[in-house]
Amino acid sequence: MMWSVKRHIHKVHAENCTFFSHYSTVPQCSTTSRIQNIGILNKSLKQCLKNVVTANALDSSIISSTGTKSSPPNLVEITTPQKLPSLAVFVSGSGSNFKAIHAAILEGKIKAEIAAVVSDVPSCGGVQYAQACGIPTLTYPIPKKGGSEGLNVEQIVEALKVKHSVDYVILAGYLKLIPSSLVAAYPRAMLNIHPGLLPSFGGKGMYGERVHKAVVASGVRFTGPSVHFVDEEFDTGAILAQRVVPVYPTDTAKDVAARVLKQEHVVYPEAVAALVDGRITWRDDGIPIMWSAH
Ligand code: GRF
Repeated sequence: MMWSVKRHIHKVHAENCTFFSHYSTVPQCSTTSRIQNIGILNKSLKQCLKNVVTANALDSSIISSTGTKSSPPNLVEITTPQKLPSLAVFVSGSGSNFKAIHAAILEGKIKAEIAAVVSDVPSCGGVQYAQACGIPTLTYPIPKKGGSEGLNVEQIVEALKVKHSVDYVILAGYLKLIPSSLVAAYPRAMLNIHPGLLPSFGGKGMYGERVHKAVVASGVRFTGPSVHFVDEEFDTGAILAQRVVPVYPTDTAKDVAARVLKQEHVVYPEAVAALVDGRITWRDDGIPIMWSAH
């Protein structure tokens, strides 16, 4: 019995080490991220130390008692950090949505960790940010122009599922179509954000400024981001969440883009938090319902 308690204590210590090695890479992040990480580190460290103290107390009570006297401690009482849901974030550009999701994780609003960042553009801002934060990066698909290494679809599925144990895929400004085998690997577990109110202003070729130009040209008075599940087509998966912003008749596409992007950074972290918390249910007709945390 004593042996099993000691083994457990070692496990707690080992988990502290894992925790430290994970976060020790973060100081290369922005100052804000560093401060946020230190806050989280302190909080989690306190929890882990509490675990060790609890485990040590149990240990000494067993050591000080005789073999015949001591009754087995309830090991279930010793809490150890649980494995958080793992995300892979796909980016092609500046990665502002990825940064918003990362910030929400650091603030404790999304209870998950980012296991990998995937991109078709290895030099893009999103990849650079991931590297600065010590998050593993993968290139997918293999760039047509060559020059750097990349993965094919079978390899990316394998890397996400097996190597990085990814539970959810989050497309954040990723411009390539996701092939059916990758979609099938993440049923109801892959999200995208689109900068228009779907099902309008979506589809192949409708991304970035093109969406906002079409919005301004159409004369609509409202637009906004849509978060949706990913299927085999561009922007046709089930809509999960939307935000609405006004479009003024004097607006340029840039004005609209800035207004929409602000709301993207609000609605996407909220939707990802709901996904990893299990706060999404499905109607019989395939429409998702996102429930608030309160
Ligand atoms: C965003 O408008 C997003 O909706 C679209 O790509 C744009 C850029 O995203 N999918 P980001 O700044 O790289 O996150």
